[in-house]
Amino acid sequence: MGAAVLSVQGLGVATTRTPLLADVSFTIDSGERVGLIGESGSGKSLTALAVMGLLSDGVRANGTVELAGHEGNLLERPEREMAKIRGSDMAMIFQEPMTALNPTMRVGAQVAEVMRIHGTEPSKAAAKSRAVELLDSVGLPDPANVARSYPHQLSGGQRQRIVAAIALANSPDLLICDEPTTALDVTVQALVLDLIVRQAQERDAALLFITHDLAVVATVCERVMVMYGGRIVEAGPVTEVFTDPRHHYTQGLLAASDLSMPDGSRRERRSLPTIAGSVPGAGHFPDGCVFRNRCEAATEACTEVPTWHDRGDGAGYACVHPLGADSSSGHGARDD
Ligand SMILES: Nc1ncnc2c1ncn2[C@@H]1O[C@H](COP(=O)(O)OP(=O)(O)OP(=O)(O)O)[C@@H](O)[C@H]1O
Ligand code: SF4
Ligand SMILES: [Mg+2]
Repeated sequence: MGAAVLSVQGLGVATTRTPLLADVSFTIDSGERVGLIGESGSGKSLTALAVMGLLSDGVRANGTVELAGHEGNLLERPEREMAKIRGSDMAMIFQEPMTALNPTMRVGAQVAEVMRIHGTEPSKAAAKSRAVELLDSVGLPDPANVARSYPHQLSGGQRQRIVAAIALANSPDLLICDEPTTALDVTVQALVLDLIVRQAQERDAALLFITHDLAVVATVCERVMVMYGGRIVEAGPVTEVFTDPRHHYTQGLLAASDLSMPDGSRRERRSLPTIAGSVPGAGHFPDGCVFRNRCEAATEACTEVPTWHDRGDGAGYACVHPLGADSSSGHGARDD
């Protein structure tokens, strides 16, 4: 594992009237694979879009986003500079491959184009032959033939491989995947996941992997960040967070999932299939701890925003009554 590729500090995102993300801070090193989990509406995609400079009009980001090799704060860069960085030094794979592809252009030409735009290949011919190699490397059989196809002539799994090839074409230092396999059937999911991990590893890229699927995080990632209400509420090594969570939201997520750990042990699904209550809409989370209207352990102390209890190496949690081993370390844990 290497130096920090991505460093996000105090990231906030808001519309003119509604805060959507607050105080999001994390770093990802080269070669590191970090998962980002949380229920629908937690702010996972917004985090990714803010980093990529792809927030929609009317949504503003503040804080700092730094990418290795680029001076200063990416949030202050004009769009024409961000467009150059996207696709070369950082790239993103979205859930629905069709939206990322041009339906009227042969896929080989689309892969070649991203290398031509960023000047990675010297000529059209070189980019074209490199595109076929890339299609081969993402496991597409008969890549020369696939290169001549249009997106609609390919299956969902094939299309997501093309999108992966485009994202990886310029060997980005940072690869962000937002639910990249959710739209695919289970067997294809596993193949595409394996491909993404292998390709990221070969390039020693930093990987931010967004998913609802905790089992996928357990397979793909070394570290995981748990997001709720636009905040990171817990983070740490996957094995620790998934076996010994400190935050009550993390515990709820785990209880609601049917998770097998990489060592083959299986977490028993508890009686409650979901966390009590539902995710509030943007701007309707309680002040103080964002989870307190759904948390059984909430007290008066939870009306203040819990401070981040830093456990080092990107691990920590924000809860005043934490669960687990060191819960009596003077952070207001209750005896019951
Ligand atoms: N452009 C926007 N304007 C206003 N609110 C937005 C905008 N984009 C997202 N939101 C709101 O911000 C919250 C977080 O959205 P986000 O898409 O990041 O969630 P998510 O964690 O990715 O969820 P999912 O798992 O469903 O993809 C949601 O309540 C969403 O409605
Ligand atoms: S801070 Fe309070 S409300 Fe939030 S998770 Fe911890 S105990 Fe629950
Ligand atoms: Mg999302």
